[in-house]
Amino acid sequence: MAEYRVGVLGATGTVGQKFIHLLRNHPWFRVTALGASERSAGKTYREATNWTESTEMPDDIAEMTVTTCEPDRMDVDFVFSGLDAAIAGDIEKAFAEAGKPVITNARVYRQHETVPLMVPEINPDHIELINEQQFDPNGRGFIVTNPNCVCIPLTMALKPIWDAFGVESVILTSMQAVSGAGYPGVPSLDILGNIVPYIGGEEEKIALEPMKLLGKLENKKITFADFPIQAAAARVPVVDGHLLSVTAKLKNYPGDIEKVKEAVRNWRSPIADLNLPSAPAEPVHLYDDPRYPQPRHHALAANGLQVGMGRLRESKVLDIAFTALGHNTIRGAAGCSILNAELLHARGYLKR
Ligand SMILES: NC(=O)c1ccc[n+]([C@@H]2O[C@H](COP(=O)([O-])OP(=O)(O)OC[C@H]3O[C@@H](n4cnc5c(N)ncnc54)[C@H](OP(=O)(O)O)[C@@H]3O)[C@@H](O)[C@H]2O)c1
Repeated sequence: MAEYRVGVLGATGTVGQKFIHLLRNHPWFRVTALGASERSAGKTYREATNWTESTEMPDDIAEMTVTTCEPDRMDVDFVFSGLDAAIAGDIEKAFAEAGKPVITNARVYRQHETVPLMVPEINPDHIELINEQQFDPNGRGFIVTNPNCVCIPLTMALKPIWDAFGVESVILTSMQAVSGAGYPGVPSLDILGNIVPYIGGEEEKIALEPMKLLGKLENKKITFADFPIQAAAARVPVVDGHLLSVTAKLKNYPGDIEKVKEAVRNWRSPIADLNLPSAPAEPVHLYDDPRYPQPRHHALAANGLQVGMGRLRESKVLDIAFTALGHNTIRGAAGCSILNAELLHARGYLKR
């Protein structure tokens, strides 16, 4: 089986730790280098990291020395990035230019013309944009991004509906977990027993990123989807799992909510036949019980990679309404990046 040497940039952060956790038994990807800031460089991973995962830090990783994020310090085939967006741009570009593919969670390149903004179950064909990238004249280095942690569950839940009926407009409220703000994140005195009804920059991303994800690859470019999304993003005192309350107007509402449920239940992921190691058998699960999905009980369904949908019902204001749930650091970040890497391997874009 393929075994790639993999680096994790931002390995000490919330998303970086999730990479370490998810990659510990991966059949293809072996973590051989850890990058973070000057504050962490030179320390062992155990010393540098405030480990917040519920599993033990893997022993072999714990004793590795963290380096700064420079391509010639990391002897790897490609890197995953969980870097702070404020500094990710130059670092990720340097890796791509040095011939090392970058599979990133940071937002910097999400809207770059030649960079795929990709969720394998939504737009695997956008992978071909890589062929247009100019970062590395030898064509080995490139950048692939995944969307924001709300856009992923939102667009995955909309995808079967988009395919069957089209979407004309969406209104949503997101109830976002504290782990979405990284570590140490939101001060405890702001969030305990409270809800903060504003997350800077979030509503703009929620309105924009689904348009690229649902866009069409035509003449080597993405023609964006075009419908309005009005979002209200709130931080809630939940550890993991973003819950969304969504109302949507469809292009062709079939006039019967059961037909919409059928479309969700019968939808088939475009990568189902590839049998990628991390791909969930059922990427979107529609619950019947109106109390479900809930962050504490369902965010980890299918190892955190399944998006839960519930309360799919008719709306008296638009056409339909539903709730959706996605684990923000797994489906919404590290897990989605790992799936992107598995797809890149299956399509022959990764080299050892
Ligand atoms: N948390 C989520 O649910 C989520 C979801 C989707 C996307 N994202 C995105 O993923 C990225 C990471 O988020 P996070 O929540 O994991 O943040 P975080 O916990 O704050 O971690 C940030 C990481 O970046 C490193 N870093 C900071 N400054 C650096 C520098 N100058 N040079 C090199 N490394 C530096 C940190 O290393 P030190 O420990 O050495 O400071 C740490 O490893 C962000 O771009 C975020 O927007 C997060």
